Parts: sequence; C-alpha cells; structure tokens
Amino acid sequence: MKVLSVTSECAPLVKTGGLADVAGALPGALGPLVVDMRTLLPGYPAVLKAAKNAEAVTEYRDLMGGPATLRAAKVRDLDLLILDAPHLFDREGSIYLGPDGKDWPDNPERFAALSWVAAEIARDGAADWTPDVVHCHDWQAALAPYYLRNSDIPTILTIHNIAFHGLAPADRIGPLRLAPEDFDREGYEFWGQVSALKAGLVWATKLTTVSPTYAQELMREEFGMGLDGVMRARRADLSGILNGIDEQTWNPATDPLVTTYKAPRGKAKNKAELRRIMGLPESDGPLCVVISRLTEQKGLDMLIDALPALTERGGQLALLGSGSAYLEYAFHAAAGQPNVAVRIGYDEALSHKMIAGGDAILVPSRFEPCGLTQLYGLRYGTVPVVALTGGLADTVINASPAALAKGVATGIQFYPVTTDALSGALSRLCDLWELPEIWTRLQKNGMSQPVDWKLSAEAYASLYEVVKA
Ligand code: ADP
Ligand code: GLC
Repeated sequence: MKVLSVTSECAPLVKTGGLADVAGALPGALGPLVVDMRTLLPGYPAVLKAAKNAEAVTEYRDLMGGPATLRAAKVRDLDLLILDAPHLFDREGSIYLGPDGKDWPDNPERFAALSWVAAEIARDGAADWTPDVVHCHDWQAALAPYYLRNSDIPTILTIHNIAFHGLAPADRIGPLRLAPEDFDREGYEFWGQVSALKAGLVWATKLTTVSPTYAQELMREEFGMGLDGVMRARRADLSGILNGIDEQTWNPATDPLVTTYKAPRGKAKNKAELRRIMGLPESDGPLCVVISRLTEQKGLDMLIDALPALTERGGQLALLGSGSAYLEYAFHAAAGQPNVAVRIGYDEALSHKMIAGGDAILVPSRFEPCGLTQLYGLRYGTVPVVALTGGLADTVINASPAALAKGVATGIQFYPVTTDALSGALSRLCDLWELPEIWTRLQKNGMSQPVDWKLSAEAYASLYEVVKA
C-alpha cells in the first residue's frame, strides 16, 4: 500500500503543534503494516536545510505565481517530497504568520499550491512512485481531494482542528484554480468566502478526526464551527482514530533530556531540577505543569482565575507556552506569585523536563480534538487533569469513586468546562495528592496505559484498504 501524506508541518523538521507530531510519527508507525508512506511538505528554509541532498524530480513552470521544483529526500526515517517554491515558502519566521503576527495574505495560494502538487503526484507519480491513496491533513491539504474530484484516486482528509478553515475571498476562485460552478452551499462556499477545509470535507472519499469523541462533537453546533451540518451530512464516512505518541521521543526510560526512570519515584530528581530551572521554591504540594499554545481553545484563561484552588493548598504551577498577547501578559502577571513560574516561548527540551518533573499536567481545553501533552503525562507518570471533551475524554480515566475502588483511574476530568469546575478539579487533585498510595496508583496506571500508535496505525491501514478497494 502506497500512501502520500500531505501536511504543512512535520516533526522534527517544522512544528507549531500536534499536527507535526502526528505527521512525523505516522510513517514509522505504518511501516510494520507494510504501508509505504511518503510525506509531501512545503520547502520552508528549515526543511530545505535539513534535506541538503534533495534531488529534483519534477519542475513546475508556474505554480500559483512562480516556478517550483519538487524534490525527493530521505531525512532521518522520513521519505519526503518537498515542494521547493521560493515565492511561497522561502520566508523566515513563523510558517503561517508574517512579521505583523497576522496570517500571510497569500496563505490560500501557498497551501492551494501544496494541494495542487499532491494531486499531480497522485495522478502522474513522482520519483517513480505513485500513491494508491492520498492522506490529507487539515485545511492546508484539503483542496487536494477537490483537485482530484474527476479522478478515481481515493482521498482521506484528517481533521486535526476544525477551527481553522483556510478562508479566502471569492475573488481568489480563479487564482486558486477552483471551478466557479462549485462555489455554492453544496460546494466549497462558506458564507460568501472560499473555504479550503469545506472543499475537503465535501470531496474527500473518507473523513477522519483524531479521537472518537471529537468525531461525535464535530456534528454538534457547539463544536462544528459552522461546519457541523457538513459533518452530519458525511456521518457515514467519518471516523475518529486516536493519536498515539512517538515513544522513541517520549519515553521516560530512555529520554536523553531528563534523568531517566522506570517507576514514579524516579521523578524526584527531575522535579528538583525543574524547580531549579523555573526558580520555584520547595513545597509540599503538587507541582503542576502546562505546555501549550496560548489560545482561546486551551482554556488557560480559566486557569488564571482558578489558581488559588491550587496555590492555597501549597500547589505550584510551571507553565511553558506562547500565543495570544493577552494570555502571555496575563501569565506574566500571574508569575508574580511565589508558587507560579512562567516561560513564554517555545522550547522542546524544556517541555521534556517539565513532563518528567511535574506531578500533574493540566489541560483545561474548551475543545481538544485529541491533545498530546496529556498522553506524554500518562507515559511519564504525570497525572493529567483535563476537561471532559474530545480526545481528553477518550484518553484519561477519571478518578471517580468507582474507578478508584477498582484501581483503574489515571487522572482527573472535569465538566462543565468552567472556572468553577476547574477549581473543583484542582481541589480534588490536592485531595488525592494527600493520599500517597492512591496517588502512586494513578501514576502507575497511567504509565502502563498504552499510548503508542499500534492500534491507531492498524485503523489507518484498514481505512487505506477500504478506500483503495
Ligand atoms: P495542539 O496541536 O492543539 O497545539 P497538542 O497537544 O496536540 O495541541 O500538541 C501540542 C504539541 O506542541 C505537543 O507536542 C506539545 O508538547 C508542543 N508544544 C506546545 N507548546 C509548546 C511550547 N511552548 N514549547 C514546546 N513545545 C510545545
Ligand atoms: C490539533 C489539535 C490537537 C491534536 C493535534 C494533532 O492541533 O488541537 O488536539 O492533538 O491537532 O492531531
């Protein structure tokens, strides 16, 4: 089975969030299932730098405003097809945002070009390789199923986050190589604009998202971001396949960035080290960590108001994140308290030290398609405290009286997703922290819960078989 994965980011080469982790891990997870996956990625400076020996395989004279070259390279274990289009991707800084912090104005063209080339590869092959299936990720790849609408090449679109639609004004229909007759409610039109995501939702052979609960939520008005009707219409083709984590990178027994450990007590050295790095004092309460984009989605504004429930019981917070100016400012201010430490920025190495050194990890998201940091938490014996939504509902076993009696709980879930309920969850956390036997049980249960790719890779492999048939 040959599958072309089409993505705008891929770890370890270029990452802004969990999509990169997933795109980077899938090929390796699918290898043992005899799926030959190649990944089509934009030729950002960091990608071209990592793939110095990339070989030119196809030239495009005019790809949305300039010439482009498709290059093939193997970087680490990834088989890459790199779209080297300097007019679209040769830019320093963020891959999505210009220096003004706003989306690049030509984002629609940049990722339409990626999707266009995916369709070309699917039809004509590249480097003597032609995929059986095209697997697209998020809006940035979602025009590929549209460009392939008159072929019988099967496509899968995975929704990592329905909040991002890839909108463009209607006057871009021509430049984006879209057919004007499909600009309607049944097609790629969304309230008078072009929606790349909607095109994929309408035209892909099958749709997936990254957890079973989010698959259900997407069909409801509260979560569908205006596309819940489209999701309901495609109910029969939609499934939820949970993300796994890359256990080569995230394993407390082998992680080169931490003092390695196999049992919860091995966390102590990492905790002391984390306190030192973050400048936090000794304390008897639980040390909670957060590693997150700072956006509305993640619900961290509620954490600022709920903090007393933790700190008044001796608990501490260490947060690493970046994003909205308002939240960065609010956390800066919160860091004035003695038991709160904040690092604004993006720091892969520190994120490992935080997961290893924390007692608990907080993920109070308003919606969360899957979420990866709670999975890292489980793997590292760092007890997750999560909102009951999306993948957070599917991956954590709440410490309910029944689950505690049976000895199967792995964390704490709260609902509704409000400041009060989060405060309540932090109080429960402190209660459980004061019961060391139960606390250790939570940690051990988490550490032995499978969070790898095995089952989910099998689910993707079966889906590829279904659409190919
Ligand atoms: P999302 O994709 O919505 O941002 P996920 O939980 O799926 O949420 O994935 C986020 C990924 O990005 C995780 O691998 C997390 O560790 C990483 N991450 C987020 N913010 C930071 C940061 N400031 N520094 C380092 N890693 C971060
Ligand atoms: C998105 C979601 C996150 C998910 C990630 C990878 O960015 O917000 O929940 O884990 O994609 O699928």
